[in-house]
This record gives sequence, structure tokens and C-alpha cells, in this order.
Amino acid sequence: MELPFAESWKIKMIEPIRKSTRAEREQWLKEACYNVFQLKAEQVYIDLITDSGTGAMSDRQWASMMIGDESYAGATSFFNMKETINRITGFKYVLPTHQGRAAENVLFSCLVKEGDYVPGNSHFDTTKGHIESRRAFAVDCTVDEARDTQLELPFKGNVDIQKLEKVLIEHNDKIPFIIMTVTNNTVGGQPVSMQNLREVRQLANRYDKPVLFDSARFAENAYFIKMREKGYANRTVKEICREMFTYADGMTMSAKKDAIVNMGGFIATNIEEWYEQAKIKGIVFEGYITYGGMNGRDMNALAVGLDENTEFENLETRIRQIEYLASRLDEFEIPYQRPAGGHAIFIDAPKVLTQVSKEEFPAQTLTVELYLEAGIRGCEIGYILADRDPLTRENRFDGNDFLRLAIPRRTYTNSHMDVIAVALKNVFDRRNSITRGMAIEWEAELMRHFTVKLKRL
Ligand code: F0G
Repeated sequence: MELPFAESWKIKMIEPIRKSTRAEREQWLKEACYNVFQLKAEQVYIDLITDSGTGAMSDRQWASMMIGDESYAGATSFFNMKETINRITGFKYVLPTHQGRAAENVLFSCLVKEGDYVPGNSHFDTTKGHIESRRAFAVDCTVDEARDTQLELPFKGNVDIQKLEKVLIEHNDKIPFIIMTVTNNTVGGQPVSMQNLREVRQLANRYDKPVLFDSARFAENAYFIKMREKGYANRTVKEICREMFTYADGMTMSAKKDAIVNMGGFIATNIEEWYEQAKIKGIVFEGYITYGGMNGRDMNALAVGLDENTEFENLETRIRQIEYLASRLDEFEIPYQRPAGGHAIFIDAPKVLTQVSKEEFPAQTLTVELYLEAGIRGCEIGYILADRDPLTRENRFDGNDFLRLAIPRRTYTNSHMDVIAVALKNVFDRRNSITRGMAIEWEAELMRHFTVKLKRL
């Protein structure tokens, strides 16, 4: 008999988690104005709000922290990190930042001007925020197929080359760069194919534009290329990463995802001018160029994490866990963005809560129901997160409305996946009794989902 699949690691350290009663959760959620970001972590049993900074580090990462060099300038840890990034990405200039959005802030301060257009594939909310707050426009050119959650396609994160070319023609002199998010978080942790990255590069060359990768989950993207794209089955994940980055001029990185650290990020590029400009902004916003908001020990852990998480076994363990959760949801016929993403399952909330109108935010309603059911904290990636249109101030209802269940790396077991699946099934079974959703009582102008105050209708 063939042996079943199992994790490529064993557990050395554990952290207790606590269940609660439904009455407690009702009270806590009311106090949090029905915004799960406002809950205390101790009020949560299984926390799927994000896979960012919530992974479990390895023994090698913890060991490297003990020999972190905390020198202000020229720390050995910086050079460890830089050498690893050079090797894995091929980019020679590296500027540390404290997290991904800080990398965006530093680089976009140099590159994005009022009235600019930045086309790409479903910009993440902080990326969009850093573009729109500079009175520029983030133009989403993702393939239309990504919108249909039941279509099973290998690379739903791709950019539509024709849409992209149209933007390049219409706004040519106002485009500082094209941004490709790998994997594409907003449409469901869906990968971008190597072919698509290559085609974007060719188009960019034709219009003389640089390409930037938002690389938070680039290793997961490389895993999917290996598993799904013709010609890559026998290439290592590291080889695939190197090829991916040959199609970009630079990257912003949230190391809290695929480098499996609790905090950290960086900019890396081969464009000397970008580096020279970013250095100055980096010093003002983040810190000196060899630490940029990071501790020496964290730069060491980042270097080891990046190396480990571009190895096949680690990625296979991770992504097979997401696929396991997806298989349990299939059993219960719960609709989600197909196929399962790299870091999360995205439940198609309007397909579950068919009686809740879009104006009453189905995905947020489902987020609330799942927390009340079992103390599981997911996160709305939908109409609330989409913010209002900066010009019309209308809600943006044109995208998907997802409840995202983000799975932290190496943190929960498949028993936890079973609890999540059954809790969701219980909500699903009573879906027709849920007829009303949520109303906004207060919201911020930008990135409102973090602080929005809601009431139950
Ligand atoms: N880009 C992508 C694709 C992201 O998913 C994130 C963060 C960022 C940039 C910003 O990085 O958090 O280090 O400042 N995503 C997290 C999430 C928060 O939950 O998906 P950061």
C-alpha cells in the first residue's frame, strides 16, 4: 500500500489556543462593532484573518536569530539577507523595509506621481492605497475568467494582455511601471503563469515600461508553475523563481508571507536609479540602508526562511493543506474560488447567502456568522475592502465578494482544517434563514475595512 502524504516537518514548540461560548462571542463581536479586526486575538479560537506574519518559524530560523548582528550600519545580517535575495531573485540592489507596504511607500514615493496610471493584475489593497493616495489610478487588467469562481483554470491570476495593451496605448506617458502580483491575492491566491509573465515583459519592452513584481507569495506562485505549467515539472522551485524574476525590473516584498518571518520586507531591483532614489526615501521613512526598519536577527531569519520556503517539500506541505481544506468543502458542496489558492480558500459569499443583497455585504455577513458559529476568524475580501470609487464615492460592487480563510504557514494541523470545514457547513446548512446582512455606521476614507463600524440588520 502506498504511504499517505504527511507534513515534511515535526513540531518542536506549541502555543495553546482557547475555545469560547456562543454567548461570549455574541458579546465580543458586538463590542467590536461586527468588525473582526477589532476583536482581541484571545477571543479567537482558530485565526485565519491572515497568513501574514503568522507562520511558524523553523528551528534553523530561530537559531539564526541568536547570531543576528544588531550593528546600525553594515550588519552581517544584512549581508546574509542580501546574498540570499541576490541568489534567489537575481536582483543585485536590496533595500530592507519593515514590511511590504513600507516597500511600496518607499518605492512609489519615487515613481508614482499625481495623474499616473499603474496597470496590473488585481492590486492588493495597500498597493492600491499607495497609488490612490498619490492621486494616481490603479487599473485592474486581470483576466475576466478570474471572476467566475466555478471555472477551474490553472492560472486565474493572469493579466489580460489585451486589456493591458489598451491601457498602455491610452495612457502611455502617464505609466511609471506595470505591477504584477504573484500570486494574485485578491482574486483568490491564484497563480500567474510563466507564459503570462513573459508576455507582460514583451509588451512592456514594446512600450518601454518597467515591470515590478509584488512578490509577497512568489514561491507559492513558482510551486504552481512547477505543478501546472508545461515544461516546468522537472525544474526546481529555485530555478523557476529565477526565471520569473528575469521578467521583472524589480520587486517589492512582504517577507511576512513567503519568507515566513513575523515582520519584514524589502525592495530589490537591477535598476540602479530606482535604488539610488529609494535609498533616500528609505532612510527618511524606514531607517539606514542596511536595516530599514528590521532587526539584525529578523534579517537573519528572513534569509533562512526565504531559502527554506523556495524548497519543494515545504511548499508542497503548505499547499496540500489548503487543498485538503478544499476537499472537505467539496464534500459539503460549499462554493469557493476554484481551484484552491496558494495561501487561502476564498468562499464565494453571494453564492452562499443568496438572500443577502450586495448593499448588505454578504461576505462580511458570512465572516460574522462563522465567528459566531465556532470562534473562527476569517476576513472579508470583498465589497467593504474594495473601498469607494475615489471619483464617484460609490461603493465598488464590480469585483468578487469573498470570505477569505487564510491559512498561516506551518501553524495549524489538518484537524483544525476539519473544524473549519464543519463550522462552515453548519452555517451553510442554515443559509436560507440568513436574509439580512450588515450596514456601515462609520467608515474611513481609505482602507476602511480595518476600522469600519457595522451593525447587524
Ligand atoms: N502585497 C500583497 C499581495 C499582500 O498580500 C500584502 C499583504 C502586501 C502587499 C502588503 O504587505 O502586510 O507586509 O505590508 N497582505 C496581507 C494579507 C496583509 O492579509 O493578505 P505587508
